[in-house]
Amino acid sequence: MNKLIIANWKCNPPTIEEAKELFEKIKDNALEKNVVICPPSIFLSSLICEGIKFGVQNCFWKEKGAFTGEISPQMIKSLGVNYVIIGHSERRNILKETNEEIIQKINEAVRAGLTPIVCIGESKGEDTFEVLNNQIKDIDENIILAYEPLWAIGTGESAPIEKVKEVKSFLKDRKVLYGGSVNSQNAPNYLEITDGLLVGGASLNSEEFSKIILCDI
Ligand code: 13P
Repeated sequence: MNKLIIANWKCNPPTIEEAKELFEKIKDNALEKNVVICPPSIFLSSLICEGIKFGVQNCFWKEKGAFTGEISPQMIKSLGVNYVIIGHSERRNILKETNEEIIQKINEAVRAGLTPIVCIGESKGEDTFEVLNNQIKDIDENIILAYEPLWAIGTGESAPIEKVKEVKSFLKDRKVLYGGSVNSQNAPNYLEITDGLLVGGASLNSEEFSKIILCDI
């Protein structure tokens, strides 16, 4: 099926040695499929290798300048990295990123030639479609979205298939990945109805992630 499968390592693992070890274990399977690995940015240069697609978990909304601690899309692109996750719920909630900043980041990423993966999703108790409408209203239709309901992230409570189907049809012709407690057991069901997966915790387990990659047949 050649769906897009993205590994979001988040702020893991804590050392470059562990990152290299994890990468070595998933590399061969990742080469075979349409897989993008998003490690912490500081590890990228040590991991980048021929044939594997890489991404970052965030970027800034300016090309360069006096913005201490930030990494620009142009810097990322210059490493040969082509993907960026933007607007992850952990950044929206913990780091207080707004929809406006997210749009600026998307624009700058596209300008630099990166492919953004923009995360959207509701918290428990919120109206899904109202939240999604608000989050996507200024996002161009050809940008890849990742539907990650907050209540499904890291909880083991993955979203019901019917719910993801509804979201997919609400988003019409847009490319949509699913993320939230994806594992090797539920991955085939989501792959059937979406354009791919955004995998958190399970991407840190080489055996589990390899099984997820290989179930896209
Ligand atoms: P989990 O797969 O750990 O639930 O995380 C999902 C996620 O946030 C991926 O971006």
